[in-house]
Amino acid sequence: MTIQWFPGHMTRARRQIEEKLKLIDLAIELLDARIPVASRNPMIEQILKGKPRLVLLNKQDLADPQATAEWVAYFRSKGLEALPFDANTGYGMKEIVPRAKILLADKIQAQIKRGINPRALRALIVGIPNVGKSTLINKLAGKKVALTGDRPGVTKGQQWIKTNVDLDLLDTPGILWPKFEDEAVGMRLAATGAIRDQILNTQDVVFYALRYLIPHYSNMLQARYEIELDLKNINLTNAEDIIGVMELIGRKRGCLISGGKIDLDKTSTLFLKDLRAGKIGRITLERP
Ligand code: G4P
Repeated sequence: MTIQWFPGHMTRARRQIEEKLKLIDLAIELLDARIPVASRNPMIEQILKGKPRLVLLNKQDLADPQATAEWVAYFRSKGLEALPFDANTGYGMKEIVPRAKILLADKIQAQIKRGINPRALRALIVGIPNVGKSTLINKLAGKKVALTGDRPGVTKGQQWIKTNVDLDLLDTPGILWPKFEDEAVGMRLAATGAIRDQILNTQDVVFYALRYLIPHYSNMLQARYEIELDLKNINLTNAEDIIGVMELIGRKRGCLISGGKIDLDKTSTLFLKDLRAGKIGRITLERP
């Protein structure tokens, strides 16, 4: 799913989340562990208005474990609780409630003091399209949940979804928009498959990705495509050098057109498929 965001959409999305804030104890913010910056909404602090927030670095199975550990440490240094997560398998699921309780310790203590039995925590899941919100809700609920779409003008009581852990979820996740006016953000969203290929030029996306991958993940590239990169002589600011690497990959993969030329479009499509599926390796495109 890719949503075309217009100012009207943003206002509506923001209002929908604002209305729910009074119902919840905390927000669970899903980020893509491969791109924790690009998958983040630029206004998240203002939107959540200080609501306690647990960050889940989802799709950790596809991300570089070392980088994910650095990101968790980074978020904690900023006073946020963060967890590596995999909504497909449920990796990290058992940690959600204990972490949430750390965030809400004061509130829970106050309730106990007043003789109130702490109830299941109530949360709203928020994140950009494709980050894994529905997958997470289904995993936590232990079944496929029919998510009710938000329809303006239709007044409907909020539904709570019971989960396998001590947590109730609002049945409609909050859909956030990324900072898409930033070109680098767009490139990283496209590289990970968060936005559709029609939106950005595939060759540009691969060019952008390779410029990061060559210095950071050269071993993985060499192993996956059985190529040798002459790293000392690759100048990352020289477009020809990056295209040279694309050509090496294309040649190995048989992406040829007449005259022995490399079909860079085909190479790019194939490369992006590999990258998104984790076939090159576990890769993170951003560092704290
Ligand atoms: P959304 O509600 O936030 O829009 O996202 P959704 O749950 O639909 O997830 C989007 C895609 O991401 C799904 O793939 C889902 O399986 C995948 N996904 C979610 N969490 C994880 C995770 O932790 N690890 C991995 N590897 N994948 C995850 P899909 O529907 O099959 O789409 P696609 O894979 O064909 O793009």
